[in-house]
This record gives sequence, C-alpha cells and structure tokens, in this order.
Amino acid sequence: MGRGFGESFDQDVGVNGAPNLTLHEVDTARRHVFKCTAGAVAMLLGSHTLAMSAGWSQPLPLGFTAVPVSVADTLQVPPEYVANVLYRWGDAVGMAAGAPVFKADGSNTWEEQTLQAGMHHDGMAFFPIDGNPRHGLLAINHEYTDDGLLHADGMQHWSAEKVRKSQAAHGVSIIEVIERQGQWRVMPKSAFARRITASTPMAVSGPARGHDLLKTEADPSGSHVLGTLNNCAAGQTPWGTYLTCEENWNGYFSASTTPNADEQRYGLRHQGWGYRWHEHDERFDVARHPNEPNRFGWVVELDPMDPTHTPIKRTALGRIKHEGAITTLSQDGRVVVYMGDDERFEYIYKFVSRDKVKPGGIKANRDLLDHGALHVARFDAAGHGRWLALTQGENGLTPENGFASQADILIRTRQAADQAGATKMDRPEWIAVHPHTGEVFVTLTNNKQRGQPGRDIDEANPRGDNIMGHIIRWREGHGESNDAAAQDFRWMHFPLAGDPGTDKPPYRGDVQGDMYGSPDGLAFDAGGMLWIQTDISTSAMHKGSCKRMGNNMMLCADPVSGQAKRFLTGPSGCEITGLAFTPDRRAVFINIQHPGETASERSDPVNPQAISNWPDGPAGGRPRSATVVIRRKDGGAVGT
Ligand code: FEO
Ligand code: CA
Ligand code: CA
Repeated sequence: MGRGFGESFDQDVGVNGAPNLTLHEVDTARRHVFKCTAGAVAMLLGSHTLAMSAGWSQPLPLGFTAVPVSVADTLQVPPEYVANVLYRWGDAVGMAAGAPVFKADGSNTWEEQTLQAGMHHDGMAFFPIDGNPRHGLLAINHEYTDDGLLHADGMQHWSAEKVRKSQAAHGVSIIEVIERQGQWRVMPKSAFARRITASTPMAVSGPARGHDLLKTEADPSGSHVLGTLNNCAAGQTPWGTYLTCEENWNGYFSASTTPNADEQRYGLRHQGWGYRWHEHDERFDVARHPNEPNRFGWVVELDPMDPTHTPIKRTALGRIKHEGAITTLSQDGRVVVYMGDDERFEYIYKFVSRDKVKPGGIKANRDLLDHGALHVARFDAAGHGRWLALTQGENGLTPENGFASQADILIRTRQAADQAGATKMDRPEWIAVHPHTGEVFVTLTNNKQRGQPGRDIDEANPRGDNIMGHIIRWREGHGESNDAAAQDFRWMHFPLAGDPGTDKPPYRGDVQGDMYGSPDGLAFDAGGMLWIQTDISTSAMHKGSCKRMGNNMMLCADPVSGQAKRFLTGPSGCEITGLAFTPDRRAVFINIQHPGETASERSDPVNPQAISNWPDGPAGGRPRSATVVIRRKDGGAVGT
C-alpha cells in the first residue's frame, strides 16, 4: 500500500460522499443534456449518487497483461490490445485535396506547417459529436518545438521563415476522428478541423482584461493577444469547451540582461531558452515590448465545435506556468478548476466559480470562468490543508504589499501566492478527480533541488534530492462533506515513486506493483481506475535505478490500494502524455511526445534518427510526436 494509507481515510468514502458532478458524467451527456434539459444538473447529480452506491471501492480488476520494461524503440501494449498511430507531426489537418504532404527531411515551409499537425503533442481531450462515443473531435496541444528536427538544417542560418515555422508548429489541433469496424481514423476532410498557432488572434477576459500591464503598442486596449504558447496539459469544461494551458511561455522571450524582480519571478531571462524568436519577431523582445510576456501564462478556453470561435484567455484563473486545468463541480453546482504550476517550489491552485453551471452549453456559460475566487494550497502538518484565497484584501494581498487590485493579483499570481504563504511543491503536474468520490490526486513529478540549503523538505514534500517524484491525494472539507468548494482539505501521500528494492536513497520509493518514477500525466477513467504517465528526463534515465526502468511508460493503478500495473511503454527518448478516453471506454487516446530526444536541447538534423525513428521506421526520416489510439482486440472496455 502507498505511504500513509489507512482505513480511517478510506472508510468515510462511498454512499455518504459528496455528490460531486464529474466531467465523465457530464461529458457523456453533454450538448444533448445541457442544450435541452432544464433539469440537467439535478438529473446528473442523481446519476452520480447511483454510481457511488454501486460499490466503487471494491478492488479494481486491472484485467490486462502487464508489459515488461523496455528500452526498444517501439510502442508496447498488452498482447490483447492493439495500438494504431493516428496523427503525427506534419500530418495534414482537415483537407482532402491540396493538403501539404509531410516532408521527412524537414523542408516543409512555414505556410505548409500552418495546415499540418504541430510538433510535440501534449494534453488532449475527446469531444463526442451528437453523443456518439465512436465519432468525435480530438483537441490536441502542441507544446513546443525541437528546432533541430523542425527545419531541414536545424537552427543554422536562422531566419524569419524559421521563426514563423516554429510558431506555426505550436498551439492546438482540432481534428475529427471516427471508428468504423474497430478502426479509428482521422477524417481527411472535416468542417471542424482547425489549427491554432502562436499567431492566432485571441481575446482576453476576466478581471485583468484591459489592465495597464496587458497593454502593448499593437493592442492599446489590453484585450486582444496573438497566439498561445507552450500548451501543456489541458482540461474540459462541463459545458463542452476545451481548456488549453500555457506552461513554459517565459522561454520564448528575451529579457534584458538584468530582468526586474517580477520578470525573474516568472523565469524571464536574456535570450530566453534558445528559441531565438526575438531575433526576427520583435514581439518577443522584452526590451521593446515589456508587457508582451504578461499576455501569456493563462488558461485559454475554446469551443472545439466551432472552428470560427475566438479562443479566450481567462485571467480569473491566474497567470502561472499552467500545467493543466481539471474541472469538477461543487455540491451546489459551481465549477471548480484544479491547476498546477509546474516548476520546482511552485504551487497548486483551485478556482471556484461565482455562478453555477447552467444547462445550455457554451452559450449559457460563456462568462462562467470570468467570475470566481482563485485559491492556493497550503499543506499543513498531520494531513491537514487549507485553501488560501487570492482575493484582494485577504491573506496580505493589500495595496501596501503591492496588490492594489484583483488584476494585480491575477497578473502576478506567483507573487500573490508567496505573500499568502502557500506550500512550495515538487513540480505540480497533472491533477485528477475521482469520478465517483471527488477525491483529488496530483503528480509532483520530481525536484532534485529539494533539501538544498534554504529549500527544506516538509511533510508534503518529504524527500531531499527528489528525483523520482510522488503523488498526493486529498479530500475536500471536514468529515465526510468532500465538497470541491471547501476551504480546507485532508491529504496524504499516494506513493512516493521509486523502487522499494534499491539501496540508493534518491531512487527508493514505496510503489506497489510495477515500479515507476517521475509521474506526470494523470487521469481517471469513468470506472475509477487511475492512469499514470511518466516523464523521466533523458538525463536522469541513465543514472542509478532509472537505468532499470527503461523507456517512459503508462500504468494503471487502483486508487484505493495503490497497486500499479504497467500498461504501455513508449519508444526511445519519448515521454507519454495526453490521455483521453471515449465515453464508452472502448478506446483510449494517448500522445507520444518527443521520441528520439537526447540529453541535448535540440536534435541533430544531420543524424535525427540517432535515438529513435518512431513511428515511421528507418525509411521515415525523422522521429515524430504522434497521437495513438489503443483498444482491446475483443472490443471491451480498456483496462478492465
Ligand atoms: Fe509540459 Fe510540466 O509538463
Ligand atoms: Ca507534463
Ligand atoms: Ca514533465
């Protein structure tokens, strides 16, 4: 069992738990129900209670053949499953005729890239069309580019054309997918298909819209931004929209040689992270456009069903390095959004809307994410925790401390969380809400700096040199209420990741079953099984016990016992990410990100296949991030 598990924590969950309406339930019925039924919320609350009384807390079957660790350059699934590559970097988007063909030597133009799948697929969600679990849209994030692979000659002869191609390979894809006779495919011509890039016009809404810190020469209103950057994990709202999250956006900007304190707090630095966009697009030169970085770091909401919809940056959810935005409902029907800020010693956030979710889809809920209260988590001793409101006038967020308005707090969210006294965590990545109990799980992927001078361990982050990471679970409120809108919570560790059998302390953990490290992607399926995806960095993978763990993987775990079973291993150099189930659970979509990544920051265009040629093989040219669909050969529910 995972560290700290105990009956006292488990026994009060079940039929007495809070009726938290879940995304799974809403998703299955969405559009139909929310468009046309006035009593939809009440009905779904009823169905939830039913699901809990069906005995969810029995041990889960994990009824598949575990796969062994692997260092092969292949995608491995259990023998009773089949995996098919669906959508690779460079595949055409939504065009039957005249679509640009992917050129394996990296020579597609930037204009062609705007009509092709972006690079480095990450968070993802499935949206059924007319409630059909076998026909829907996939919204897929393209987190970042490896410019060594993106261009024929890598970063040599750097040019405006290369910057535009890199910008076009970022953002989001909307593609239409359908299953016929067990085979999933991308519809080559689709009225829904869309690419959103680092240049797509977006609106800004919420309390920070129009604030002076968001105004630029090109946008004196502070309300319209071009593009979204470094779209990492994602979320789905109960009213059917997609939430795409801007993570390491700071890396694209070149600050002055001496960034100011606010810029430093968000990691802005001279020359950025080497994308070199500022050399040909002055928008990314902070000295010339000091407010442009303030227009990134947001959660962006978009309607996947409307290809003309202008994506909206929702400032009420704060400005951080957003990993994901996972939604659930409070007992009284408000939306609650859980969000991690993925950097060492950063925080976990929760937004609670002011208003309740209404039937009627996006039209009825178009402003819901603009009004509400943002909170940040403080993990106290003995398994207690508190949500600290990031509201002007509370928790030291006063003009004397530099927070004159709510917009100040939302633009400088990290500084506000510092002021409020939140707990600094070991890189919060994905968050998952149990579909029946509302219990919340978060991955803390790793933090090798934990335990260094001035960076002490604490109860929630208990290991120095935390290479392997851990998972924390919590329940909201006191007693048995477990209301997602509660102001406090009770927490405990799920596992400390790592090998229970090793004698090397940094690699030792208490995982039960198949061993893993650096948990990152995390999601429940509708049956309450917890799926865990790993992202051990290439540099860490070649050290210590990580050597024995092989390539990155996806596992399925029982959230009660902690028992984990390895379901999938990825090709060389990749991380596993993007996790979306069809509502009938007969298919799961995942993303293979950055196959072939080496310890260096950019791949070598002369020898791009040094580590991997997945998925196209040796004749293919370059390794390509891709969306994969996995199903059981007998057509049954995945994982059972
Ligand atoms: Fe984009 Fe924190 O992973
Ligand atoms: Ca991640
Ligand atoms: Ca990661």
